Amino acid sequence: MTRLTFHRPDDWHVHFRDGDPMRAVVPFTARAFGRAIVMPNLTPPVTTTALAAAYRERILAAVPEGVTFTPLMTAYLTDGSDPADIVAGHADGVLTAVKLYPAHATTNSQFGVTSIAAVRPVLAAMEKAGMPLLIHGEVTRAEVDVFDREARFVEEVLLPLLADFPGLKVVLEHVTTAEGVAVVKAHAGRMAGTITPQHLLYDRNALFKGGIRPHLYCLPILKRSTHKLALRAAATAGDGLFFLGTDTAPHLKHTKETACGCAGVFSAPTAIEAYLSVFEEEGALDRFEIFASLAGPAFYGLPVNPERVTWEKRSRPVAEAIEVPGAGEIVPLFGGETVAWSPV
Ligand code: DOR
Ligand code: ZN
Repeated sequence: MTRLTFHRPDDWHVHFRDGDPMRAVVPFTARAFGRAIVMPNLTPPVTTTALAAAYRERILAAVPEGVTFTPLMTAYLTDGSDPADIVAGHADGVLTAVKLYPAHATTNSQFGVTSIAAVRPVLAAMEKAGMPLLIHGEVTRAEVDVFDREARFVEEVLLPLLADFPGLKVVLEHVTTAEGVAVVKAHAGRMAGTITPQHLLYDRNALFKGGIRPHLYCLPILKRSTHKLALRAAATAGDGLFFLGTDTAPHLKHTKETACGCAGVFSAPTAIEAYLSVFEEEGALDRFEIFASLAGPAFYGLPVNPERVTWEKRSRPVAEAIEVPGAGEIVPLFGGETVAWSPV
């Protein structure tokens, strides 16, 4: 039996939502991961330190008894964000980072940033405070092809931003292209990238395999297979520049299986299983711990989780969906399929 023991991993990019859906999904992340960076794209968004502190309490109340889990909070950057509140929230230990959504890029991003010029004072304050900026890297102009939005963002927005704020720590979230991988590598030391399970597992053909697959629709969208291969090489390189960030993004089943479906893959229940299969296929299980448990804390300046967990090669079926009492169901990654790895 193949077994692998590693420090308890962290998830550096999750969507927990709020209310009943939050209470249904938090246990999956809390059982598998020591900490998670929590995205602030609620309605209304988590824009201030006070809102983040209150949201953190609601998340902690949803953690199952006996489970130790730390949510790391982010603030949603808007054109009107107050630099003093953001850096004070960081100094007080409430805010770990700030999330930049270009306005209209994805779910609940309508209050996002309209131009980098509008948020210069916040970025300058964060640079001075050593507070990381987490970026959804897609341009949003309607004429730009949806498959080109990340590469265009790197060229048009990210490179100028990195040059303007040379001391700002930046994470390019859910990297999906070779161009995204390259910009992270070129700015090693101040930059990192998270990679989702679905972008390592699938290319864009999977969206249309035998018919349209709404549960694989996410943003940034799956790309062609050359990009998937670049992401696999980046995740398994062992250089610590890329780390685990699932972008688990639960949406009720009926809001995905519809004429205009929501973007997001709910991967929390099977994320480690997915990443382990990819690392196994790449012959890189010896570098799994760097990606899952070591590189993220190193970038964020946090200790590695002290406990160790063991996983083994043992297949088991995955439920078709999880229940949100009173609201409906959410279909997880690999729902109704079999996974090859299980926790011991
Ligand atoms: O697919 C996505 N879903 N991408 C995002 O950037 C946001 C997320 C969500 O919140 O649903
Ligand atoms: Zn996300």
